[in-house]
Amino acid sequence: EEADDPRPALYHALRFAARFYFEQLTQSEAGQVARAYLKQRGIHPEAVRRFGLGYAPNAWDALLKAATEAGIRPEVLEQAGLVLPRKERGGYYDRFRHRLMFPIFSHTGRVVGFGGRLLEPDPEQPKYINTPETPVYHKGRILYGLYQARQALRTQEEAILVEGYTDVIALHQAGIEHVVATSGTALTPDQARLLARYVRRVVLLFDADAAGQQAALRSIELFLERGLNVYVVSLPPGEDPDSFVRAKGARAFQEYLRQRRRDFVTFHYELARRQGRLDTPEGEAEVARTIVSAIARLPDPLLREPYVRRAAELLRIQQVRLLEILEAQLTPSSR
Ligand code: CTP
Ligand code: MN
Ligand code: MN
Ligand code: MN
Ligand code: MN
Repeated sequence: EEADDPRPALYHALRFAARFYFEQLTQSEAGQVARAYLKQRGIHPEAVRRFGLGYAPNAWDALLKAATEAGIRPEVLEQAGLVLPRKERGGYYDRFRHRLMFPIFSHTGRVVGFGGRLLEPDPEQPKYINTPETPVYHKGRILYGLYQARQALRTQEEAILVEGYTDVIALHQAGIEHVVATSGTALTPDQARLLARYVRRVVLLFDADAAGQQAALRSIELFLERGLNVYVVSLPPGEDPDSFVRAKGARAFQEYLRQRRRDFVTFHYELARRQGRLDTPEGEAEVARTIVSAIARLPDPLLREPYVRRAAELLRIQQVRLLEILEAQLTPSSR
């Protein structure tokens, strides 16, 4: 029933929390520690405003008190993922404490959740904590930065997909605004579908570690199936987009993106070569099969041809041989 819809109250509470954290960061004495952290990371005040960054004070009830005074019920704060019930003696406590806050916006610009980052390394605590699933926040359906990127996505006609909050912000500061993040998890079909509403081409720019490579391989398949064109840029070992753009500077980074962009077949091939999977004949055959099965996912039959040609050249296998495998892998409906 309409009257029982909890969402308007949750949006109100989340908006209140975002303002509260923002004020704590930009205006309070307590926020000094977070302002120093941002300065040291090179995150500028303009980005703080654009992304609505904030600071959750180092207290058990800072948000709880302020929200209660503003007439927001604790049950609503709990449902929004902002506070947790105390185990004993009743009452609630703030979920986010002494963390840099990244509000997460829906593509329509509503605050639906938060990510909160530690300010100092602490082996006892996760680096980031995030809003749990709530009636307005479904992690698998959100792309961080989409709201801020939406205009640039249209004009650039492509999206750069990164892993982290700080990657999105660092790229914006480098003048690259058509960027969104999965927020660490594997790309979901819902996220791929959401992005497909804005662009036909995606450039994957994941962290240069095993997890990032794995994430790239899975994401490639999801985008290909939706008919998006996928390219991949690999970073030097140990780097992520944020660290790399700060090390190189904006111009050199943009040039790197242009020069290191690989189509998905070339990415598969180069990755396999780096991993030593092309060192034996059976390895070569296995890699060929993997690449062809990725090509088989392309819904546009006309696009399969140039990719098969590319694969044949890279692997030095006759095109007709790859086409035979491709035929065998195609489902009757995709022929
Ligand atoms: N993440 C998370 N929980 C964690 C670690 C990571 O939700 N414990 C998500 C965050 O959205 C993070 C993204 O995964 O932005 C990528 O993780 P990682 O590369 O470890 O963090 P960075 O974004 O590089 O953050 P920072 O530079 O601040 O370390
Ligand atoms: Mn859900
Ligand atoms: Mn990572
Ligand atoms: Mn990272
Ligand atoms: Mn990082």
